Parts: sequence; structure tokens; C-alpha cells
Amino acid sequence: MSLILGLESSCDDTSAALVTSDRRILAQAVVGQNQAHQPYGGVVPEIAARAHVEILPALIEQVLDEAKASVSDLDAVAATAGPGLIGGVMVALLAGKGIALAAGRPLIAVNHLEGHALSPRLVDPDLAFPYLLLLVSGGHCQLLEVRGVGDYRRLATTIDDAAGEAFDKAAKLLGLPYPGGPAIEELAKAGDPVAVPLPRPLVGSGEPHFSFAGLKSAVQRAVAAGTHSPEDIAASFQQAVVDCLVDRTRLALGTSDAPALVVAGGVAANKAIRSALSNLAKNEGRHFSVPPAWLCTDNAAMIAWAGAERLAQGLTDELDAPARARWPLDEAAGKVRGAGVKA
Ligand code: KG4
Ligand code: ZN
Repeated sequence: MSLILGLESSCDDTSAALVTSDRRILAQAVVGQNQAHQPYGGVVPEIAARAHVEILPALIEQVLDEAKASVSDLDAVAATAGPGLIGGVMVALLAGKGIALAAGRPLIAVNHLEGHALSPRLVDPDLAFPYLLLLVSGGHCQLLEVRGVGDYRRLATTIDDAAGEAFDKAAKLLGLPYPGGPAIEELAKAGDPVAVPLPRPLVGSGEPHFSFAGLKSAVQRAVAAGTHSPEDIAASFQQAVVDCLVDRTRLALGTSDAPALVVAGGVAANKAIRSALSNLAKNEGRHFSVPPAWLCTDNAAMIAWAGAERLAQGLTDELDAPARARWPLDEAAGKVRGAGVKA
């Protein structure tokens, strides 16, 4: 059994966690920055980085206290090294390097996306490789075949916005606070999902990718027209995203014989999305796994767990491991039409 300290600061959540290789989360602390960014309707990188610097040391002390552990009990330190907002990424990575050096333990420079990708295995011991992963967060919307630790094949990505980005932009148009996902999910409860006719970009096409920009523009027009209630727009928007995710995932399942479908990333916290994908998996005869909502949004437990998985394979890093703003899971996957930085 090994004990891993995980550190995360790649976007707008600061987090530290202590996780064991036999799947026990001894302690976790997560502090979000929603209020700091709310006036701007999105994450301001400089504000985020400063907040991480101020908060992270106290969180590390807190989880060590809670678990009655000291740095000498650690077997490794796992810190997110990218992708993300580079000023923020550097905070956890540098803290991790310092602790690893002081404790004389290995550093594991974790890809944040690998943290999301492996997170279901922290809570589902029966989830074996390979599995088809729908990774839906604020910065990414991808379908990946997860074949093993560090072994990913990208089947699809977004050609414009990520799914979480679409939620955030639609929320802004509706005058809802950042982050938009939870706010839209709440408002949608009181709305009619078929009230507003909205497009489902790429649905039915043989092209495997995602697109959400046209949906956002349609929401913009619906808001401007003023003929539908915000509740109906929220519910109809959420239904359109669900339909896009289900259609694209169904297409990918047709090209993969992976026995399980897994959903991870912040958007996987959405109940409508979870239940629609669970039904899809059932209809397609695949096992379905999705982490609890607190493990879907950014957290250090998933980083510590990815560290545990890498440590078990002997995959550790040198103390000069770089912080990376861009770091695709499947380095061999090419750029897709119009994808820009989201590939
Ligand atoms: O994985 P995450 O915490 O951070 C990134 O790595 O991006 O994902 C954040 C994204 C945001 O866009 C947020 O609006 C979305 O996940 N999100 C949701 C929900 N909770 C968070 N989207 C839809 N429904 C939710 N309940
Ligand atoms: Zn994330």
C-alpha cells in the first residue's frame, strides 16, 4: 500500500488530497474561486494564480493534519503539470516539487486530463481497461479509448467549444452566474426541454466530432427574441447538449469494442447527462461507470489517484518536469477542422 499526496491548481479550484493505492481517500480539501471570477463571467488567469498561491499551503497542512500524517509518510507527491492556465499550473507543480525534494520522495507530474480519465477507477474497483471515455469539462470535450495508464486513443474532439464552455456561455446569455453548468441544471428543472427549437450540431453526421458554437448562437437568438422563459431556454439547451453527447457517443461505441462506457469531467456532474448516457450504455450492452459529482469537478483526489496508478507502473518524473499549458492525452491525434487549441 502506498500513500500519495495529490495537488491541483490548473483552473479555478485549489485542492490537496491524500489517497492510498488501495482506494482510500484519507483527506481532501477543495476551495473554489467562483465568487472571485463571477463579475467577469469566466476565469481570470491572474486572479486564479494568485488565489492558488494564497490557499494551497493551508490546504496541504489541513489534509496532513486530518489524516494524522506527515510528509515522511508519503510514498510520492503527484501534482497537476498541465494542461491548464499556466500561472495556476505552476503553483501546485512547484509546491509538489518542493515537498518531493524535502521528503526525498518521487514526484509524479500528472496530466490533469489523465486525472479525470482515471478518476472512475478510484471509486469503481471493477472498472478494467479498456473503456470508452467521454471526457466533458470546461476546456475539453473528447471521446477517448482508455487502453491503460498513459495509453489513450482519441476518437473525437470538439471542433469549436467544449461542452462545459457551452454551458458557461449559455448561462452568461441567460444572466446566470459562473460556472454556468450547475446554474443551468437548476433552472432547467422548472422548464420544458422541448419548448424552444434548438439545433443539434453534427448529430446524425458520420463525422465523429462535437460542435457547440451553433447551439450557443441559437440560444443567443432565443434570448434576444424574448418569446420563451429563461427556464424553457435552459431546459431546451440542456436537452440539446444531451442529444449531441448521446449521438456522438453512440457513433464512437460503434467503432470500439471496449466493454465499458465511462463519463468524467465537470459536465459529468449533470444528472440529465448522467442518466442519458447510462441509458445509452444499457441499450448498447456496455457496463456504465461515472464518478460521484464531487469527483467529476476538479479535485486533487483524482490527481493523487492518477499518481498512484503511475507509481504502480514505475512512472515517476524528474524535478525539472515542465508545466504545460497544452498537453493532449493522445499526442498522436492530429488537429481537426476548425479545432484550434481545443484539439
Ligand atoms: O472539470 P472541471 O471542473 O474543470 C475543467 O477542467 O474544465 O469542469 C468545469 C466545467 C464548467 O464549464 C462547468 O460549467 C461544468 O464543468 N459543470 C457542469 C455542471 N457542473 C459543472 N455542467 C453541466 N452541469 C453541471 N451540473
Ligand atoms: Zn478538469
